[in-house]
Amino acid sequence: MKAVHVTRFGDPAVLEAVELPDPRPGPGQVAIDVTHAAVGLIDVYFRQGLFKDQEGMPQPPFVPGLEVAGTVRALGDGVTGLAVGERVVTLSATGTGGYASVLVSDQAFVVSTEGYDIDPALAVAAVPNAAMAHLALTRVAHMSAGESVLVHGALGGFASAFPGVARQLGASRVVGSVRTSKLGVAATTRLPYDTIVDSAELPDALDGKLFDIVIDPVGGAVRARSLDLLAPSGRLLMVGNASGDWSDLLVGNRLWMGGLTVSGFSAGAYIPAHLEELRPAAEAALGTVADGLVHPEVDVLPLAEAVTAHERMESRSVDGRIVLTP
Ligand SMILES: NC(=O)c1ccc[n+]([C@@H]2O[C@H](COP(=O)([O-])OP(=O)(O)OC[C@H]3O[C@@H](n4cnc5c(N)ncnc54)[C@H](OP(=O)(O)O)[C@@H]3O)[C@@H](O)[C@H]2O)c1
Repeated sequence: MKAVHVTRFGDPAVLEAVELPDPRPGPGQVAIDVTHAAVGLIDVYFRQGLFKDQEGMPQPPFVPGLEVAGTVRALGDGVTGLAVGERVVTLSATGTGGYASVLVSDQAFVVSTEGYDIDPALAVAAVPNAAMAHLALTRVAHMSAGESVLVHGALGGFASAFPGVARQLGASRVVGSVRTSKLGVAATTRLPYDTIVDSAELPDALDGKLFDIVIDPVGGAVRARSLDLLAPSGRLLMVGNASGDWSDLLVGNRLWMGGLTVSGFSAGAYIPAHLEELRPAAEAALGTVADGLVHPEVDVLPLAEAVTAHERMESRSVDGRIVLTP
């Protein structure tokens, strides 16, 4: 099969095209002929070796990529409920292997998209993230209908799943925040935000409005400002750190005085502990995406341009998601 290897930790140039033997599914596994593989910031972190010393993190050489869309190629022993040729998408997990023409995944992470009118490039760009957003909002932030939600880094790959899922869950108001340089793009987005404000102008840009839930994939100064944007009993949900600022800036006494909650959500930590919640979240996500509520901009590039894809992620010249086609 065609694949891209991280040959060693380093800059995007360490990504190299390779030919590898076709993998075969073991018991409980599904082999997928990949048509589209999503690129995420987590792939960049893995390639850089940011988490290389943490247990279970990929070590070179490895094939990056957590999420693919494609068709079922072969089923391992014991797999039921899927048929060869069926259109599927895989959900985010701590795995690798996506930047390839064939991926083998445990069945638990494979979801059929048959019966839904969803283009495969959009499916891989939106369904896994929408499933994670659904879990984050319902199981961790405990969102109720009628609550208000603020999403930082509003046009980013993961962030762009939240407004649609929040709408589906009955949010009263969904506001995004972006850097000043992204306000122009924000003005034309199809994502279902009520409005998108400049994160450099927080809290003034919100005219005193407070939120029940703040979703933060950005970190750094934006995160530090977020406690002041929460209504009483509000929840700040940390879901990433795209700013690259790894200092911890939250002040504990603000939690006590404001009656606030700060939680974290990471697919890699949450899913293995709650596998039974994955399929219902995926079903909800398929409905939300099919209804047109999660529609990030999607740039499709050939797999051979994986280096360009990573350069663009690092230079912050992506609004939405890049998807690779083998
Ligand atoms: N919890 C989970 O399960 C999960 C799932 C997927 C991703 N993540 C995490 O979420 C984060 C984002 O990943 P992604 O794949 O969505 O990346 P992405 O597509 O690159 O999105 C990152 C977003 O953050 C914004 N941003 C970066 N630095 C900023 C700053 N200093 N101020 C304001 N906005 C800033 C970016 O805006 P610009 O374009 O203006 O830079 C962009 O909109 C990563 O840390 C990733 O590991 C977590």
